[in-house]
Formats: sequence, structure tokens, C-alpha cells
Amino acid sequence: MRMKKKRHGSERLELLSTLVSNDPVFLCNNLKDVYGNSNPLRIEIGCGKGDFIRGKSQAEPDYNYLAIEKIADVCTVATEKYAVSRGLGELYLNGGWKKYDGTVYRYGDGAVEFTDEEKGNVRFAIGDAAKLLCEFPESSIDAIYINFCDPWSKKGYAKRRLTYITFLEMYSKILVNGGKIFFKTDNKDLFDFSLEQIEVSKFDLEYKTYDLHASDMNETNIETEYERNFSEKGFKINMLIAKNVK
Ligand SMILES: C[S@@+](CC[C@H](N)C(=O)[O-])C[C@H]1O[C@@H](n2cnc3c(N)ncnc32)[C@H](O)[C@@H]1O
Repeated sequence: MRMKKKRHGSERLELLSTLVSNDPVFLCNNLKDVYGNSNPLRIEIGCGKGDFIRGKSQAEPDYNYLAIEKIADVCTVATEKYAVSRGLGELYLNGGWKKYDGTVYRYGDGAVEFTDEEKGNVRFAIGDAAKLLCEFPESSIDAIYINFCDPWSKKGYAKRRLTYITFLEMYSKILVNGGKIFFKTDNKDLFDFSLEQIEVSKFDLEYKTYDLHASDMNETNIETEYERNFSEKGFKINMLIAKNVK
């Protein structure tokens, strides 16, 4: 995702740092401390500005969610939008965060304090999911969402695709038995490639569609930013669900 470098990006992130995990493995091992409950953990890889995770966490609130995004400024925007959606305040125009009760935290004041209830069931992490996730304990995750990831279309780059077999092996390890991958893309070549990889993996294909918005799954679908953009331009959205059967 392209984004102009944000002014005061690190100060903005610092203000909302209690919503951002700098140790996702600790988070995974200490759900009760982090979320205030031990509900199963679901992960989104490459959350962008976070439309999906905000919608999903509201639609299915009996889970905890971790949204991983490798670009810090993009993750900051996702975190801010999530905080606004929970009524935790808003960016203060003169620099800082204005809490819902009117208290203003300026850059450098440290993290804005929120209760567990205010923070809700989503946390964010900045980093390359490929590196972060391989540190996760075995069978610790309920579901993985991959939405509109880079197709790495150039020849010789297939191994970088987030549905390449080595990634599927890693997902299989950290997902519980029966845990699922939910994958959406506008890119048919990437989708077909992903189906082939699933075929030789420890996942069973449970569902696939080449036109999500015309399918029976559309009713419960949570749109992402890219999905809205691509479908408005007339692209069909592909989706698959694969179940871990290790
Ligand atoms: C094409 S955008 C899609 C954003 C969002 N998922 C959507 O559907 O609107 C892909 C996002 O994934 C992030 N990303 C790509 N590879 C990643 C990785 N290995 N770990 C974490 N984030 C990644 C990019 O920085 C970018 O924000």
C-alpha cells in the first residue's frame, strides 16, 4: 500500500500505543492480560487501514483479533480509525489525541490510557507477518485472514506470495486443528495459484468462489478498502476458505 509519510507518525503511534503490541508472541501467550479475556485469537495479515478488522471484530465479537501491518504509518492510521470507531476520541487538530471526555494528550505526553473494555477485542502489530508468525506457538490461532495481498506476479517471485506452500505450512503449524484460512483477492492468477498450493498442503478446501459478491457468502462478507475499490472498477472478487487438517 502506498501512503505519503505521515507527519508526526511516531508521536501519533505513541499516543495509541496501548492498542499496539510490540511483542505479538507475548500477546498470543497472554490473551487474558492483553484483552481481558481468553477468547480464541484470529489474525489478519496486511490489514491496511483496517476496514476489515473493524467490521469483523464487531460482527464476531466473541474472538480476539490481531491485525498485522508491515508499514508503520499505515498501521497508525488503522489504529486511529479503530480508536475512533470505538468512540475513544479523535486526532486533535493542533497535534495530539482528544479523548471522548475532552482530555487532550499532546505529542510526547505518553500513551493515552484506556480500560480493557474501551480497547475492545482488536490489537495491532507493526512488522512482517512472515517473520512474526513463525515465532507463534503451535496450535495457538483460530483463523487467519489474508485480504488482497501482493500477487508478486513477476517470474521468480512465487515464493513471496502469502499463499505459497511454505507459508501454508507455517499457518498449519500455528492454527488449531480445524482452524481456517480466509483468502480474498481480485487477482485470478494468484487465486488459481493459491488453489493449487492448498491442494498439496495440509489444508482442505472448504469453499471457493470466483465471484464473492454474487455468491451466498456476500451477505456476511466484510469489505476491505481494496475490495471496495476493485469491485467499483468492475473486478470480480475471488474468495476461498481452507480448513487445517493436520
Ligand atoms: C494491497 S494492501 C491490502 C490492504 C487491505 N488488506 C485491503 O484489502 O484493503 C496489502 C497490505 O498488506 C501489507 N503487507 C504486505 N505484506 C505484508 C507482510 N508480509 N506482513 C504484514 N503486512 C504486509 C502492505 O503493507 C499493505 O498495507
